[in-house]
Amino acid sequence: MRDLKLPAVRPSEITAERYFHMRRGLLASGLGLATASLLPAPGRAASAAPNVAPGPAALRYTPNPRYAVTDRSNSYEEITGYNNFYEFGLDKSDPAANAGSLRTRPWSLTIAGEAEVTGTFHLEDILKPHPLEERIYRHRCVEGWSMVIPWVGFPLADLLARFRPNSRAKYVEFTTLLDPRQMPGQQRAVLDWPYVEGLRIDEAMNPLALMVVGVYGRELPNQNGAPLRVHLPWKYGFKSGKSIVRIRFTERQPLTSWPAASPGEYGFYANVNPMVDHPRWSQATERRIGAGLFAPRRPTELFNGYAEQVAGLYRGLDLRRSY
Ligand code: MTE
Repeated sequence: MRDLKLPAVRPSEITAERYFHMRRGLLASGLGLATASLLPAPGRAASAAPNVAPGPAALRYTPNPRYAVTDRSNSYEEITGYNNFYEFGLDKSDPAANAGSLRTRPWSLTIAGEAEVTGTFHLEDILKPHPLEERIYRHRCVEGWSMVIPWVGFPLADLLARFRPNSRAKYVEFTTLLDPRQMPGQQRAVLDWPYVEGLRIDEAMNPLALMVVGVYGRELPNQNGAPLRVHLPWKYGFKSGKSIVRIRFTERQPLTSWPAASPGEYGFYANVNPMVDHPRWSQATERRIGAGLFAPRRPTELFNGYAEQVAGLYRGLDLRRSY
C-alpha cells in the first residue's frame, strides 16, 4: 500500500486559472501530453490532432489488453451524445447540450468515514500517482440499451487503498456534486439530489471497477461525468456515479438514489441479470446503440459477460432476491 501524503485543500489558495495551468502542467509532465502516435487510430476519436480541434485534452495512457472486447467500440459521437445524466436533463441529448455549465476545475474530492486518511484533496493530487490505462468495457443501462466504450482510467481499488479503509468499512458511497446553478436539472425534484451510489467494499476493490477520467484517449467530456466517474461493467449503468465529489467508507449499506426513489424497481446490487426483469420491462435482451433500427436485439449476458471475474463476489447470494 502506498503512503499517502496529500495536502488538504485550503480554499484561499485556489484560483481557477492556477488549477487550469496545474492540470495542463500535469498532463505535459507527469502524464505527458500525448503525441499523435499515442492517440487512438484515426476514425476512433472525434478528432485526432490535439492542437487542431478544441475540446478535451489528450491523455497519455497504455491500452490494457486484458480488458478488451471483440465487439466494435461505439463512436465518440455516440458515447458523448447519448447519455444519462439527469442533473442536465432527462433526454439522452440533454447532457451533451447542457453540461457545458459544469466547471470541472478546480475540483476536489472529499474522503470521509471509516478510513485512516480522510479530508478534502485536490483532484491533481488524487490523480498524480495513478498511471492511466485504456480498458474497453461493455456498458449496459437498466433501460435496455448498451454500448462498448474505450474508457481511460485506473483501478478504483488503487485509489481506495491509499486512504487505508479500516475494518468497519464494509461499503463505499459515491456522491455527485450538488450545485443547482451548474447542474440545472437539480432545480427539479426528479431525484433526491445529490446523486448517491454505493458498493460493497469487496465489489469496489474488484479489479474490474474502474475510476474513469477519459474516453477515446481524451479527458472525459462533462456529459460523461467529468472529471471523475466510476464504471462497473458488470452492473447496470446507474451504479456508475458521475462527477464525484465525495467518497465515504461506511459500516452500513448506504441508501442510494434509485432504490430511494423507487425501491420496488431498483436494488442496491443492480448486477446485470437476464433472468431478473425490471417490473416494467424484460431484461432478457438489449439494444446496442448505433446498430441500426432493424438490428436484432442481443441477448443480455449474466453480469454483462463478466461472470468469470465477479461471480465469486456473490456466492451464496440469491441473485433473484438481491437484485
Ligand atoms: N450519475 C449521475 N450523477 N447522474 C445520473 O443521472 N445516470 C446513470 C449513470 N451515472 C447518472 C449517473 C445512468 S442511468 C447511466 S446508464 C450512466 O450514468 C450513463 O453513463 P454514460 O452517459 O457515460 O453512458
